[in-house]
This record gives sequence, C-alpha cells and structure tokens, in this order.
Amino acid sequence: MSDGTSPQPRDALTRAERAAMPEEHARLATGALLRADDVVAGYLPGVDILKGCNFFLDDGEIVGIIGPNGAGKSTLLKALFGLIPVRHGNITLRGESITSAPAHVLVRKGVGYVPQTQNVFPSLTIEENLEMGSYLRPKKFAEQFDRVSGLFPLLAERRRVKAGALSGGERQMVAMGRALMMEPSVLLLDEPSAGLSPMFQDEVFIRCKRINAAGVSIIMVEQNARRCLQICDRGYVLDQGRNAYTDTGARLMKDPKVVELYLGTLAGSQEGKRP
Ligand SMILES: Nc1ncnc2c1ncn2[C@@H]1O[C@H](COP(=O)(O)OP(=O)(O)O)[C@@H](O)[C@H]1O
Ligand SMILES: [Mg+2]
Repeated sequence: MSDGTSPQPRDALTRAERAAMPEEHARLATGALLRADDVVAGYLPGVDILKGCNFFLDDGEIVGIIGPNGAGKSTLLKALFGLIPVRHGNITLRGESITSAPAHVLVRKGVGYVPQTQNVFPSLTIEENLEMGSYLRPKKFAEQFDRVSGLFPLLAERRRVKAGALSGGERQMVAMGRALMMEPSVLLLDEPSAGLSPMFQDEVFIRCKRINAAGVSIIMVEQNARRCLQICDRGYVLDQGRNAYTDTGARLMKDPKVVELYLGTLAGSQEGKRP
C-alpha cells in the first residue's frame, strides 16, 4: 500500500479506493443524512487519531465500518456523537452543523449511540435501564417501552431482572433498547456483536436489519467484518485514522485489496464451502 509519499497512479486504485478519495466523497455525500468531512480528532494534545476522515450515511441506510484494531473506528463514532472534540473538519446532520455538539443535544436531534463496552447499568433492572434511555421524555416511557419491547420481547418478559445478571447478548439488547427509547433516526452501534456467542451474533445482525426496516438509519462498527459487509448497504474500511476504501458491502467483500488486507483468510472460511 502507498505510504503517502509516493502516490500510486490513479489507474492502480480499486473502485473502493477511488470512492474513498476526498473529491469522490464530496460528490457522493451530497444530501446525506449525516456526514463527516475531513475530520481530525484525538484524545491527547498533539496526537491525532482521526487524520482527515470522510464519511456519510444516507437516509435509510445501514453503513458498516470495519478495519484493524486501533484504526480509529470507535473514535469516529465518539467524534460523531460529540464525545471527543473535533480539531478540524465538519460533521453535519441533515445539512446542519453538529461539529462537537454535546451528546444530549444530539440525542434530542435523533441520534442514538451504543458504546462498545459498559453500555448498561448492571445494578439497575432492565426496565430502569430503559427509563434512563427516556429521561429526556419521561412521560413517553410506557409507550416507548411497548414499542421497543416489540423489537426485543425479552425486555418486557424480564423487565424486573437486573442487567448485571444477564448474558452478554441480553445486555446488548438492553443497550440497544435503551438507545431506541428516544426514537432515534440515526443509531450508532459500536461492535454490537463483540464477545457474543455465534448464535447471539447472528441475532444481533438480524435485529439490526429489523431496526433499520423500522426506519432507523444505522452506522455499525464491527469486528465481524464479513458478516457486517453482508448486511450493510455500504461499508467503509478505516485504517490509521482515514477511510481507505468504501463501496457497497457486496463489492467490498470482492475487492482484492480489501480481501487481502482486511478480510484475509477469513474470506473463505465464513463464506460457506465454496472455494
Ligand atoms: N481514551 C483514550 N485516550 C487515549 N488514546 C485512546 C483512547 N481511546 C482510544 N485511544 C487510541 O486511539 C486509537 C484508536 O482507538 P479506537 O478508536 O478505539 O480503535 P478501534 O475502535 O478501531 O479499535 C488507538 O491507538 C487507541 O490506543
Ligand atoms: Mg473500537
């Protein structure tokens, strides 16, 4: 891969690499529901983790973000949700700037976020966890609890059970349920299938599809890259704080460079028996 000092001739780029370039991003992102342009952000002074990241989500889409550990995937979600300051670049929601807007403002604007870890209150019951999700609109709790339990029946069936007593997969449902209590139009999910048994992983992806079908646009960061690309409309490969590739999920799974660098030998093994 190019190290940035000797750019490859344009012809050598794959379709997904070209689409990740700033000018293509600018063309394709027009009219997007949520977009990030040239975003630079980090935690420690002088250390940029996102180094000019471009991203967009169209209304109705599920967009997956994959990439190696430490690439900045979680950092991108945190930057979108106003949890870390954006040092350069812009983030817009429906054309309005939300760059570095605080999380509670974003929640009111219809953005929900499920962090990668510690995403439930273990000492609270399922019902209390969901109440926390609707603290901005407490009067709507009962109505929203019914709606969200329609997507995750377990939440109503076990409403008085403490979240700390649940399995990883069940906790993930509580975390997603809590984010859905405010009827978000955009849901940011950080590794929803991480640490779950294969059966629960599949369940998470099916739920995401259902939530999306109910009208919620989704950004999903996933370590289960192949499964994620299978269900998403479009995907991004993030590497070293930049989006290196972007295309439809189906095309990314066939992009020779993406397969070699990011899907690797997993490419065949999870695809079934065909060579
Ligand atoms: N709270 C933090 N403080 C300082 N550095 C962090 C923090 N969280 C993450 N980082 C660093 O940011 C980089 C990207 O991390 P992250 O976005 O979590 O990666 P990914 O989600 O792609 O695995 C890593 O080098 C990581 O060490
Ligand atoms: Mg992460």
